[in-house]
Amino acid sequence: MKTNELTKIFEAKLSKMDFDRLSNFIYTNYGIKMPPAKHIMLQSRLQKRLRTLGITNFSEYVNYVFSKKGQDEIIHMIDVVSTNKTDFFREPQHFEYLKNTILHEAYNYNKQRFFKIWSAGCSSGEEVYTIAIVMSEFANTNPGIDFSILGTDISTIVLEKATTAVYPIEKVDVISLELKRKYLLKSKDKEEKNVRIVPNLRSKCHFQRLNFMENSYAINDNFDIILCRNVLIYFDRETQEKVITKLSRHLKTGGHFFLGHSESITGLEVPLKQIKPTIFRKI
Ligand SMILES: C[S@@+](CC[C@H](N)C(=O)[O-])C[C@H]1O[C@@H](n2cnc3c(N)ncnc32)[C@H](O)[C@@H]1O
Repeated sequence: MKTNELTKIFEAKLSKMDFDRLSNFIYTNYGIKMPPAKHIMLQSRLQKRLRTLGITNFSEYVNYVFSKKGQDEIIHMIDVVSTNKTDFFREPQHFEYLKNTILHEAYNYNKQRFFKIWSAGCSSGEEVYTIAIVMSEFANTNPGIDFSILGTDISTIVLEKATTAVYPIEKVDVISLELKRKYLLKSKDKEEKNVRIVPNLRSKCHFQRLNFMENSYAINDNFDIILCRNVLIYFDRETQEKVITKLSRHLKTGGHFFLGHSESITGLEVPLKQIKPTIFRKI
């Protein structure tokens, strides 16, 4: 693209009318709240898309998104508007609870050996591989344990990262040296500052695109544990209630459900009973 066209894109402004069209569409179809305060954020995030498509103004872009030809662009638009912040061992008390209470009790008292876990809204996979590490560590001292983990997200960009399972070295700082040695591979190229999750863990983790706003979820399994952390804060209460209800349909009775630290089910009619702040069981 020529320099003067690039300058036009940097200066391109998203009108209130176009912002309203996009924000209504994003909210209705993906549940993500886009209040007027997010106007500038949406404008600057979408400028990348205009550059990629070689479109110099927003009204043309918005018309493209809503045209037949632009259907694929919706996925890219959602990729840039969704907030994907995540980390390994984020909110570590959840993983302590998983190991010391859930796994301990299920293994010793219920003689359970296989665990199905769903990380709903998994972003780039750090949550999924954290669970895989915890499960694998538990299996090392408790023979017979096996598990499978499903990660789902709406964003194709993060799902690709999750599947590749390659992370910048600074992202794994939080993991102890002992666990790093067991579960992370360094690149042979010393210059490359990335690590990759070992194949043995990767083979137990599967990823799939799923939009929480679908009427029902195309998932055949019922899970022992579902984590839906730091996702529902972007939704209003009505949408939160619907999403938790739909997720709970895939949770076994007595199964555990985790929310993020600032999320709650207070005032929602959902089939969950709180057992700790942000930890619930299906009733
Ligand atoms: C902030 S990340 C949370 C990641 C991880 N659960 C954690 O706590 O670290 C929120 C994720 O929810 C996903 N998300 C947002 N709206 C969604 C929707 N309608 N359906 C499915 N995933 C959605 C985003 O793409 C994003 O990756």
